[in-house]
Amino acid sequence: MVNDLCLEMLCNPSTHNKLIVDSNGIEEFLVDSSTGERFAIKEGIPSFISSEDIDGTNYDSTKFYNSFAPFYELGQKAYYAFLGGEEKARNDYLQFINVKEGDKVLEVSVGTGANIRFLPRNAEYYGLDISLGQLKQCEKNNKKYNLGLKLFWGNGEMLPFPDDSFDVVYHIGGINFFNDKKRAIGEMVRVAKSGSKILIADETEKVAKFFEKIPYFRGPFKNRKEAITAPVDLLPPNVKDIKVTEIRNGTLYCLEFTKI
Ligand SMILES: C[S@@+](CC[C@H](N)C(=O)[O-])C[C@H]1O[C@@H](n2cnc3c(N)ncnc32)[C@H](O)[C@@H]1O
Repeated sequence: MVNDLCLEMLCNPSTHNKLIVDSNGIEEFLVDSSTGERFAIKEGIPSFISSEDIDGTNYDSTKFYNSFAPFYELGQKAYYAFLGGEEKARNDYLQFINVKEGDKVLEVSVGTGANIRFLPRNAEYYGLDISLGQLKQCEKNNKKYNLGLKLFWGNGEMLPFPDDSFDVVYHIGGINFFNDKKRAIGEMVRVAKSGSKILIADETEKVAKFFEKIPYFRGPFKNRKEAITAPVDLLPPNVKDIKVTEIRNGTLYCLEFTKI
């Protein structure tokens, strides 16, 4: 069964048409009945992208995260040990969102689901990522910590959710190297309800300058075409209360705003 998801929360990411569940007797899949387009369900995870569709910097980052996924949490924990522990370090940015009881919350680029553990349990969580390796680790955490997280394989630049679906939308740590940041931000705003808070956080230029010297991590940082800044200039017109805060000694920007 489709990881207990509500079909009303899903759509074809290209047409935004509603989807229905169909089966060929062996496996279930999702279908856009207007266009006939089918989306596989892999190990309970609805899949809105295939490996062949991933190109550009999305390809580089997916390749990196697929290979790094088994070590991702260990690496993060080691890093966070220097920042006063994981809970404190994640709350450095999670403090900018306010999850209330019953909220529908979307994390774009959910990774291994590590942020969800530090958010209130009485909300409904949805996570999408482009790396299947990260999603597989996330599914393990989902079971281990009983997160009730609904997972989707897809590209943050084309979300498989209808307009005005979520009370909170946030993204941490990947957007600097998305193929099309403007499109991804437009998508986060599209799927948020009017009045919803949106948070986008990622590393600053200061971190890029550090990582471009380290061989294993160098790739995306070395190839950046311009200095990293919070993508305020890419916001669509239907947002207000825009605020940028740099935290952790200027290493992470947090861009917060509200959908009008
Ligand atoms: C640094 S990790 C952050 C994971 C999680 N948000 C966290 O805070 O632990 C960045 C994530 O962005 C994902 N990502 C990169 N490009 C993406 C894209 N175009 N669409 C969706 N996710 C993407 C990667 O696969 C990776 O899991």
